Amino acid sequence: MLVLGLETSCDETGIALYDTEKGLLAHRIYSQIAVHAEYGGVVPELASRDHVRKSLPLIREAMAESGYALSDLDGVAYTRGPGLVGALLVGACLGRTLAWSLQIPAVGVHHMEGHLLAPMLEDDAPEFPFIALLVSGGHTQLVLVTGIGEYELLGESLDDAAGEAFDKAAKMMGLPYPGGPQLSRLADEGNATRFRFPRPMTDRPGLDFSFSGLKTFTRTTILQCAEDGVLSEQDQKDIAAGFQLAVVDTLAIKCKRAMKQTGVHRLIIAGGVGANSLLRRRLREMTEEMGGKVFYPRPELCTDNGAMIAYAGAQRLLAGESAELGVSCVPRWPMTELQAVSLDDVVVEERQ
Ligand code: KG4
Ligand code: ZN
Repeated sequence: MLVLGLETSCDETGIALYDTEKGLLAHRIYSQIAVHAEYGGVVPELASRDHVRKSLPLIREAMAESGYALSDLDGVAYTRGPGLVGALLVGACLGRTLAWSLQIPAVGVHHMEGHLLAPMLEDDAPEFPFIALLVSGGHTQLVLVTGIGEYELLGESLDDAAGEAFDKAAKMMGLPYPGGPQLSRLADEGNATRFRFPRPMTDRPGLDFSFSGLKTFTRTTILQCAEDGVLSEQDQKDIAAGFQLAVVDTLAIKCKRAMKQTGVHRLIIAGGVGANSLLRRRLREMTEEMGGKVFYPRPELCTDNGAMIAYAGAQRLLAGESAELGVSCVPRWPMTELQAVSLDDVVVEERQ
């Protein structure tokens, strides 16, 4: 089954072609960083307009790279939510209309399910069950995954998401948007032990997170170090390193706790913060010490992309799911509301 995936939930236009037998055939990501940089964050209306501009050229490029024509497609998958409603509507209208014109099924995919299944696109894919650490700009969740659509929420952030905390700390340090990756680059050259940032909520039981206190600690540390409001380069690097280590330590402590609590020793990391190299290294060491294993997508498939939407959509299309002709998007959508995908459904659909 050849599936076109469209991701337009925020500030990246992601287009991909995934074949259930041959794997990922082509993918294109266009980042809107330049569009939003001067505003210091994503401007929803500009994001929607840019998705309109970029989607068709990227589809043409991806189709050309794959060597297939639109008429070869068996299905279209688009991100239905959560995300910015205007941005979501661009991909949803385009995907639903394209599928209608080709007389093939379309499916609306949950963005976080896309992230969660992205490690399946790699050669070394995890088997079920596994624990998923979802760390993006809008979510920080620990989920027990027993199958596609079978998600038990073990813990989540009570306030800021990990990526959001990275972005806010970066902004306080005067780094340009998008701050997370910039802060991480600085951190790699800093002394992580000069400032002892707290490891929030690790001293009490449970698997929830809270990252808003790190913001306050960052602000206070900046005020202590800055002369006339300006931080030296070394101070910037050391604050970034202390901050990054605190987030990574906190995530690692909770992942270890989740593995102990469930007895499941396979861990996957997905979402934008999953591109963080210290987090990847640290979780690999931690899982190996526990006799377990960590799986993660290549960094470009950790941040928003069309491949994860094409993959997740393909699984649901295979099971016979198909979106109605009306276009609907869901800006807020708990992942636990998703239907489980049973392979039995595939057999039943084929026999009918
Ligand atoms: O999954 P994603 O691309 O979009 C959402 O669904 O939110 O995640 C974006 C988030 C941003 O907050 C960004 O700062 C963060 O992921 N991020 C990073 C790194 N790369 C992206 N945070 C820390 N280190 C990185 N290398
Ligand atoms: Zn995302």
